[in-house]
Amino acid sequence: MTTVLAIDQGTSGTKAIVVDNAGVIHGLAEYPLHPSYLADGGVEQDPQALLASVLEAGRAALAQAGGMPIDIVTLANQGESILAWDETTGRPLSPVIVWQDRRSAALCARLAVHRDHLAARTGLVLDPYFSAPKMAWLRESGVRGGVVTTTDSWILHHLTGAFVTDVSTASRSLLMPLAEAGWAPDLLDVFGLGREKMPAVLASDTIASTTRAFGDRDIPVGGLVVDQQAALLAEHCLQPGDAKCTFGTGAFLLAHAGENPQPPQSGLAASVAWEVRGKRSFCLDGQIYTAGSAVRWLRQLGFIQDAKDLDPMAEQAADGVLCVPALAGLAAPWWNPDARACFTGLGLASGPAEMVRAVLEGIAAQVAELCRLLGQESGGPLRRLKVDGGLTQSRFLMQALADIAQVEVELFPSQHATPLGAAALARMALLPDLSIAEAVLPWQPERVFQPIWSADRASAFRARWLRAAELVQDMRN
Ligand code: G3P
Repeated sequence: MTTVLAIDQGTSGTKAIVVDNAGVIHGLAEYPLHPSYLADGGVEQDPQALLASVLEAGRAALAQAGGMPIDIVTLANQGESILAWDETTGRPLSPVIVWQDRRSAALCARLAVHRDHLAARTGLVLDPYFSAPKMAWLRESGVRGGVVTTTDSWILHHLTGAFVTDVSTASRSLLMPLAEAGWAPDLLDVFGLGREKMPAVLASDTIASTTRAFGDRDIPVGGLVVDQQAALLAEHCLQPGDAKCTFGTGAFLLAHAGENPQPPQSGLAASVAWEVRGKRSFCLDGQIYTAGSAVRWLRQLGFIQDAKDLDPMAEQAADGVLCVPALAGLAAPWWNPDARACFTGLGLASGPAEMVRAVLEGIAAQVAELCRLLGQESGGPLRRLKVDGGLTQSRFLMQALADIAQVEVELFPSQHATPLGAAALARMALLPDLSIAEAVLPWQPERVFQPIWSADRASAFRARWLRAAELVQDMRN
């Protein structure tokens, strides 16, 4: 039996599970994190809080598993969040600049002349979301010395002493060509990062090093991956076109895109899903920057006390109010970091319930637009979407998604897709003969949401919502 300690270091918290190769979870611990949302579009985290959450969640999950011996530790990371740190001491030299941070928007505008070249080489869009603009912004804002990396490299340095990242994380940077290995000097130069020391880029089925952070013996650390790609794997999206959407702090739609990547034409991004057994698989992705964050915002405004209030409120709300929940800008296909949320259709009778409903339908409409683009990229409409993450507990949101996108929505039966996907890669890192199909456990949907709306009603709603999304564009600054 192979037992994995799988740690999912996310934006709103860190989760750790102890899981065996039959998928049985023996220990589970979660530590919340509280990013700071700054008035200028900055989103930061305390690096020490992030590291402490990894160590505490990992140790608590192990304690819950009764000290069960583990064979390997794996880490899924936020993907595009970065910080500067001293490579000798491990001391942070900056806060974590979170993927949602918009402060490098002006830098992206300045580098706009490189936009097409970057898209063709990396599959990504020149936007503050990806790592390199934030890395360059941090340097330009006066943070000198040390190294500037994604958060995984810093955490892994503390766990193992190695200076590494993995290929899926590197492919979210704008610094690694989509179909080539490693960092490209000319891309580093575009961002003024040519002199930076960059971590070694590891395949997803590699052992990076060992750690003593979780016991008194050396335990291998490997199977490293971005959280979204981990969930794609756990949800068995192994064939081109297989798609999933994870509803966490944001919502992230990813589809397997085969082994021969083409830079997308639709405004979606392309990156490495994983590299196992010497072969890279790619994925297409579209992003909604604020999903769980939008619900947190509704709570801050006092419209709901708890996420459990979403469905009862939305179900009793009148229709007609629309929301584009672009609280931290718009990603694919608009790529407008300056866009901000709007509500339309409010009347004197509209209240919190209507606004709650509009936010949920707005999230669903954004995902529906991404589904449409995926269909466009893959030559036929998307028929089925697998979903996971905390917000899938909102039945209203899931039904709205099925209705507006006109897809069958299959609910993943576990709240732990990300660590389960990372655990599959960790098993592949340990066992060289294990195939990807053997490493990922089969699953049946806990529930399937079928579209109830007619296709005409769905397309009328989408057209109205897209007009509201255009309004958000027009009001830019
Ligand atoms: O791209 C950012 C994303 O991977 C973060 O995921 O789960 O922390 O919202 P999460």
